[in-house]
Amino acid sequence: MADHYVVVGNPIAHSKSPQIHAAFAAQTGQNLSYERLLAPLDGFVANVEAFRADGGKGLNVTVPFKQEAWQLCDALSERAQLAEAVNTIKFEDGRIVGDNTDGVGLCRDICHNLQQALQGKRILLLGAGGAARGVILPLLAEHPACLTIANRTASKAEQLAQRFQHYGQLGASSYEALAGQQFDVIINATSASLSDALPPLPGGCFAPGSLAYDMMYGKGLTPFLLFAQQQGSAQLADGLGMLVEQAAEAFCIWRGVRPDTTAVIAELRAGLC
Ligand code: ATR
Repeated sequence: MADHYVVVGNPIAHSKSPQIHAAFAAQTGQNLSYERLLAPLDGFVANVEAFRADGGKGLNVTVPFKQEAWQLCDALSERAQLAEAVNTIKFEDGRIVGDNTDGVGLCRDICHNLQQALQGKRILLLGAGGAARGVILPLLAEHPACLTIANRTASKAEQLAQRFQHYGQLGASSYEALAGQQFDVIINATSASLSDALPPLPGGCFAPGSLAYDMMYGKGLTPFLLFAQQQGSAQLADGLGMLVEQAAEAFCIWRGVRPDTTAVIAELRAGLC
């Protein structure tokens, strides 16, 4: 009998998670099924409980339910606790155990796949919503020289910097105040790319040799990556690798085995063209 997993969201039809987990299961010889589950906006908890009652083993949670999942869990990892967001749930001894693998997925993509160590680097994180919050603790765990959070609504960046102040060297900024500063790694965690918009980052912020990373991905370059290219950024990356790496971490939490991501990232990349 296969063990059952789902990814819950609304909308969910676009999710590539079933394809990713099917590839992981085939590669590691794990007997499992993984499907999409569309929950009504007011029906997240009821759907999770019904899936659990049906014998489900665990689930991934995506937009817009990550915060609700965080509230639902009986136990949380430290990174999920601080992020106030859960993307991975495991049913364990009658409890709902929550984790957040987004940040570790981002760090693994940057440090391992893109071969860019973050230790000692000046990192700029654009955005202060759920996507940004989920990656702060894992980024700080890489011991950057500093992590600056910039947001259109600067007060939200300040609140985040305060929340994580005991975990590393971090600060908050408006976009305007970034003028004249340079960073080695600039990560776009805003939702601007969704509407084909560009965060109002001043010119000159990309240090020589810098990495520009957009958590969004798509067929071509996002507006942020196009801007980074014009600004002379040395390396451009979208969020496809992060997507696969966060899934690999979830798979490892559930199955105790870490799949190899290289071929899966290549397969998804080919599918985007
Ligand atoms: P998510 O869960 O994807 O992070 P969110 O919590 O709604 O979504 O947060 C969206 C983030 O993108 C916010 O930081 C938002 O900035 P504000 O807090 O000032 O609203 C940011 N954002 C969205 N569109 C943007 C744009 N065009 N330029 C800059 N920042 C943008």
